[in-house]
Amino acid sequence: MTAAGTVQVEPTEGAGAAGAAAAPAYDRADWASAFRNVGVELEGVVVTAARGEIPADLEGTLYRNGPGRLERGGLWVHHPFDGDGMITSLRFEGGQAQLRNRFIRTEGWQAEEQAGKVLYRGVFGSQKPGGPLANAFDLRLKNIANTHVVRLGDQLLALWEAAEPHSLDPDTLETRGLSRLDGVLQPGEAFSAHPRFDPGHHGAPRMVTFGVKTGPRSTIRLMEFAVVDDPATGVKAGQLLSDRRDSFGGFAFLHDFAITPNWAVFLQNAIAFNPLPYLLGRKGAAQCLQSQPGGQAKFWLIPRDSGAFAGQAPRIIDAPDGFVFHHLNAWEESETVVVESIYYSDFPSIGPDEDFRSIDFDLLPEGLLEQCRINLSDGSVSTTRLSERCCEFAMVNPEREGLPCRYAWMAVAERETGNDPLQAIKKLDLLSGERRLWSASPRGFVSEPVMVPRPGSAQEDDGWLLCVVWNGARCASDLVILDSATMEEVAVLELPLAIPHGLHGSWAQA
Ligand SMILES: [Fe+2]
Repeated sequence: MTAAGTVQVEPTEGAGAAGAAAAPAYDRADWASAFRNVGVELEGVVVTAARGEIPADLEGTLYRNGPGRLERGGLWVHHPFDGDGMITSLRFEGGQAQLRNRFIRTEGWQAEEQAGKVLYRGVFGSQKPGGPLANAFDLRLKNIANTHVVRLGDQLLALWEAAEPHSLDPDTLETRGLSRLDGVLQPGEAFSAHPRFDPGHHGAPRMVTFGVKTGPRSTIRLMEFAVVDDPATGVKAGQLLSDRRDSFGGFAFLHDFAITPNWAVFLQNAIAFNPLPYLLGRKGAAQCLQSQPGGQAKFWLIPRDSGAFAGQAPRIIDAPDGFVFHHLNAWEESETVVVESIYYSDFPSIGPDEDFRSIDFDLLPEGLLEQCRINLSDGSVSTTRLSERCCEFAMVNPEREGLPCRYAWMAVAERETGNDPLQAIKKLDLLSGERRLWSASPRGFVSEPVMVPRPGSAQEDDGWLLCVVWNGARCASDLVILDSATMEEVAVLELPLAIPHGLHGSWAQA
């Protein structure tokens, strides 16, 4: 076991002493204590470092999204992913930090606040009171805006993949309302919670994202938006630059994708959707997803309109077995597209009779980082496992998105093998195999680390990692700043806020 806050270096996988084959060292009550309602909205509270110092050259805002409300009128959500979205922001300036948090005023949140009870079903199995009869054939979607948050032009977008984003004020976090992005989206149109930011492979940086309309055939709408104003062309940040639609056979469940300079890479998992239990009020829509025995996963490679293969048809290639929510990165090597993803052996789900706070981690498949090399000339795919340690929420230096990268950072379990809650942050050297771990164990639980490159630095791993950590001892959240090269602790901010285990976030440079 690693003591909280220390760094451990492993030359290669399996060479470290960190908890190999040891029993899990965490207390489930510490992990579960993060599942709670947030009862305050802070407006720019100054937070100082409890340990270390906030770097003076760290200037910008960290935005985090995640469920902030998990219970109403005594009724708990069935799955935390059904909780109402709450944004936390930490603005860094001159070695100081300011903390703010605010619920997104979605239509559903406002209606339920007023009623003081649950009025909507959730996608992950949360039901209205009254059993199946009260839930059957209520197919309204509650856009809970809880999955990701990104800056686009003068707005902050709170994302939830099944419908359009909510637009927020980037400073005050006030909800402006649903955004159709200047008429780009139709009312209620799906808009992914996983945009990818092209750092400028074809000139100016872009936000590349998609929406899926699914059914017996599925259509992917691939969109690219400007992220900076260009006075030379008159293009404004937030403006749609390209837009294409491609249809594919079969039901599609696409949570994330990856980009290279020329391709948008999708992995269609071999899963089926049987909507009957959802229609009958017995399950949430996501609980009706199931691995398709004997099914064939597919890579769908869509040429980007900004790239060398613009206008060409997509490439469809058989993909290995397994289930993927998140990708790390993708890049091109002549005729090969390489994509790195976190694979599960099966679709992890919480059944209708299970309580998410008492799930048995040993019974759920763990996420493992794998690399697939897709040969575009002969359609062959080879797969290599990059790590045996359970991981999620992986990223590369955002300035190298879509290019070969030497370093990746991710949230991992404390034990070297097996499925456990995420308690450590790992830096993986993809070239040498060296691993560096910062651990919050035994009482800390990490969320997605956000890598912030040091401004002006050309060194790939130079910068910081920002991570919200649930501190089980304090029953509140800490913001931990690590040196992204050494993984040494730079500062720990003990936030006057208890943020439930969250989803995704991003950094907006000042
Ligand atoms: Fe995600």
